[in-house]
Amino acid sequence: MKPKTIHIQDVTLRDGNQALKRPWTLNEKIEVFDLLVSLNVDGIEVGFPSSNESEFFTCQVLSKRAPKGKPIAALSRANEKEISVTWEAIQHADSPRMHIVYPVSDFSIKHVLKISEKEVLQKIKSSVSFARSIVGSNHQIQFSGEHFGDAIQNFEFTKLAFMTAIEAGANIINLPNTVERYRPMIFVNMVKEIRESIGDKAMISIHTHNDLGMATATSVESVYVGAEQIEVALNGLGERAGNTNLYETVIALHQNGESLNIQFDRIYPTAKRISELTGIPIGEKTPIIGEDIFSHRSGIHQDGVTKTMNQTKGAYRTFSPEFVGRFDKETISFTNQSGHKAIEFLLRQKGIEVSKEEIHHLFSVAKSISSKENNREITETELVELSRSILTYQ
Ligand code: KIV
Ligand code: ZN
Repeated sequence: MKPKTIHIQDVTLRDGNQALKRPWTLNEKIEVFDLLVSLNVDGIEVGFPSSNESEFFTCQVLSKRAPKGKPIAALSRANEKEISVTWEAIQHADSPRMHIVYPVSDFSIKHVLKISEKEVLQKIKSSVSFARSIVGSNHQIQFSGEHFGDAIQNFEFTKLAFMTAIEAGANIINLPNTVERYRPMIFVNMVKEIRESIGDKAMISIHTHNDLGMATATSVESVYVGAEQIEVALNGLGERAGNTNLYETVIALHQNGESLNIQFDRIYPTAKRISELTGIPIGEKTPIIGEDIFSHRSGIHQDGVTKTMNQTKGAYRTFSPEFVGRFDKETISFTNQSGHKAIEFLLRQKGIEVSKEEIHHLFSVAKSISSKENNREITETELVELSRSILTYQ
């Protein structure tokens, strides 16, 4: 199934913030909000207003700051008091969106709520109807069935729970993989069934967590069975191992030909700033934003890279650094795994032309230095110096 439009809904300021060792201050939240606006995400969840007074005030400030037409959501549990507080916090946004969450999985109903399924349906019906009565008919209500991904034993009930929410006034049904426990295909098939069961009565949204490292795959594939909104977080922040990573998700969709409103070249500067604002470092090998992801050290790869460096499609490159706002380039480095192409390429970049025999000679010398010194990398400067000292071109 080809997706219609894909709405990128960011939850960094809510799910991301609630899991930080030190949640953000008002000014920090304003900065993150502005980063999200420049990134041009389609919608922003600003917080959980009932959690504390300063969160409530922050949600009010961000709602008033929101650009025209940008959906601004805030989370509420399924009770009238919280729904009223939440609405008070976001009602001044140009496009406020009430987000109500209530568990739907058999496990949570039996072991956490300890109530009957009938009572769950009543709770969903009364809370969503109440929300509809206060937000009016023009604004959106999103209903999340917490632990949807775990609702395998009571899936028929879960479908009924979502129909109940829709009939009570919800127009977005959010399907969270609150804890990632199973294979992506199991979740994706569940999303497909919900799409079939609710038809066009509501937008379907996906909210996945990354406990097993498969959140991006699960979310991206869900789009091809009928999900229209994906909830994501900057730098993959969020509870435990985090939420679906915004950067991975949007690049994967873009690579597969989907059109999104995202300002792709804002990705890297945003990621760097979020890392500073959280104190959580970016791993060297982190997809999209890691420092080392455009380096090539093995001979086979270096051969392909040097032959396709200026082409749109690189032999060993999915997207170019500048596409995501990076200033670095694909680099070739020399280790004992590297090939002759690395020497030729690195010297040519410095304007040094050498014969095949000279490359061969330099290659052996550089490899033996690396091997003798614990397989260390030989830098570009060292190679140039080596070439000066042992070759005839000088
Ligand atoms: O993970 C989750 O279930 C949530 C809901 C509030 C959507 O964050
Ligand atoms: Zn979550």
